[in-house]
Order: sequence, then C-alpha cells, then structure tokens
Amino acid sequence: MPEIGALLLDATRRLKQAGIEGPRQDAVLLLAHAAGLSPDRVRLDSGGVLSPEQAARFEALVQRRIDREPVSQILGHREFWGLDFRVTGDVLDPRPDSEALVAGVLAAVADRHAALRIVDFGTGSGCLLLSLLHELPRATGLGVDASPAALSIARMNAEALGLGDRAEFRQGDWGAGLDGPFDILISNPPYIETAVVPGLAPEVARYEPRLALDGGADGLAAYRRLVPDLARLAGVGAVVAVEIGMGQDAAVSALLAGAGFADIVVLPDLAGIGRVVTGRKS
Ligand SMILES: C[S@@+](CC[C@H](N)C(=O)[O-])C[C@H]1O[C@@H](n2cnc3c(N)ncnc32)[C@H](O)[C@@H]1O
Repeated sequence: MPEIGALLLDATRRLKQAGIEGPRQDAVLLLAHAAGLSPDRVRLDSGGVLSPEQAARFEALVQRRIDREPVSQILGHREFWGLDFRVTGDVLDPRPDSEALVAGVLAAVADRHAALRIVDFGTGSGCLLLSLLHELPRATGLGVDASPAALSIARMNAEALGLGDRAEFRQGDWGAGLDGPFDILISNPPYIETAVVPGLAPEVARYEPRLALDGGADGLAAYRRLVPDLARLAGVGAVVAVEIGMGQDAAVSALLAGAGFADIVVLPDLAGIGRVVTGRKS
C-alpha cells in the first residue's frame, strides 16, 4: 500500500519539474481531495497509507495539475472571504486580492443593517456580491454577467451559502436595460490587455474564460463602457467600487471623476499594489 509521505514526495518533485509554484501545498490539497482526508491530516500523517483506488485517483489529479489546470478547478471550489465558492472553468477563480474590494465597500457603508440595493457587474462566481450580502444582512443584490454558464455557477453559490432569497442573477451587457437607483455598485471587469492574455500563466490563459480576462487593446475597454452605466444607475450618495489592474489607477479614477463620482480613493491589494478604486455619487 502506498504511503502518504512517499506519494507526496514524488508528486511534489514532478509538479516542481512542471514549473508549478508551491508544489508541496498543491500535492497536499490534491491528495487530501483524492483520499477524502483533511489537508491537515495529510500533512501530519506521512506514514498513513492510501488504498490502490485512492492512489490512482491522486495520480489522475496530479496529471491534471501537471497539465496546469488550476487547483481550484480540479477541487471544484475555492475559499473567498471565508466562504466556500464553487469554481469551474466557466468562472474566474476568485482571487484573494479581490477581497480588498469587499473590505473597501464595507468600510464605506455607514449602516450595515440598512436595506441596501447592490449591483455587481460581471459577477462571475458571485464571490463579490455574495460576500457583501453575507456581511450586510438586510441588503439585496443583483449580479449581471454576459455568460449564462457563469450565472448558473453564481446561482448555485447563492443557494449553497443560504443567500438565494436576497440575490438575483441576470444575463446582460453591463448596465444595458437596467434601472436604478442602487446604493452599492461594484465590478471586477476584464482588465488585461489583449496582447498580454496569451502570455499569462497557463492556469489563466488556458483554463480561465477569455471573457473574464480580455480588457481590450489597453485593458480599459470595459471601464469605458461600464462607467456611464455606473453613473446612470447610482443613487445620490451611492458607493462605487471597481477592481483594477496594475497601473490602471489614474485612468480609472479619471473616468469615475469625469462621470460625476467624488471622494475617489485607490485601495491597495495584499502586495500593496493599487487594486480597487472607490468613489461616491455626489
Ligand atoms: C474578471 S471576471 C470577475 C468575476 C468575479 N466578479 C470575480 O471578481 O471573481 C469578469 C466578469 O465579467 C463578465 N463580463 C465580460 N464582459 C461582460 C459584459 N459585456 N457584460 C457583463 N459581464 C461581462 C465575464 O463573463 C466575467 O464573469
């Protein structure tokens, strides 16, 4: 019977050879998934053994990871804001850096028990909207996405998190056809320059939806379309928060200011890079 320690050692070596960062951590997560054990148990029980079926399942998962499939897609879920989200190849893998947007909105909300109306443009897995609904107990939210496949994942996540009665999801092209006013307007639109997309890590370029990544020639195409919708749909005093790519802070701040938003602030991500622009409708 194969021992956990030996299996981990071998998989870590092969994952490292395939160019994967953090190969040991990935090996632990995959083995835990294949064997139905907790990652902590796997870390501590290197002398434990797997059945031949469990070992074969683990080997199949390692092969998928060597092919650069993201761990969250292999496992089918990912934690964001302390909540568990279903993740497939139809949605962007929720990024820890995007938690800065949730934190920024919460810091700007005066009364967390108010019956606020939230709209999330390009909702994907629903991670941003659902995290806010989790923190704002009387708020209701609308998630818009161009991708029907993403919307069905977002709906699944809303139900699984017990937020289905306060979240609605709708297919749409940014704010087209929508009526306001909303109190909180958020978006993490695609913001990567078209020419850069093919050179991204294989986990992103090959496995994440192009619609979630490609922000046009200069990366700002979605903001140019979205900002007029934000201005039209924001109620007086509404909070707006958009995620941005590295170096886009000045351009996106200017778009928001030009559309009538005030109190514009750029918030950093975990690495200290400007990642979110917030403002308020004056
Ligand atoms: C960067 S992903 C963000 C997903 C999720 N909000 C998150 O933060 O993980 C951008 C999302 O915008 C959606 N999208 C792209 N173009 C759109 C459009 N014209 N109208 C609405 N959604 C769009 C994509 O399908 C994708 O789900």
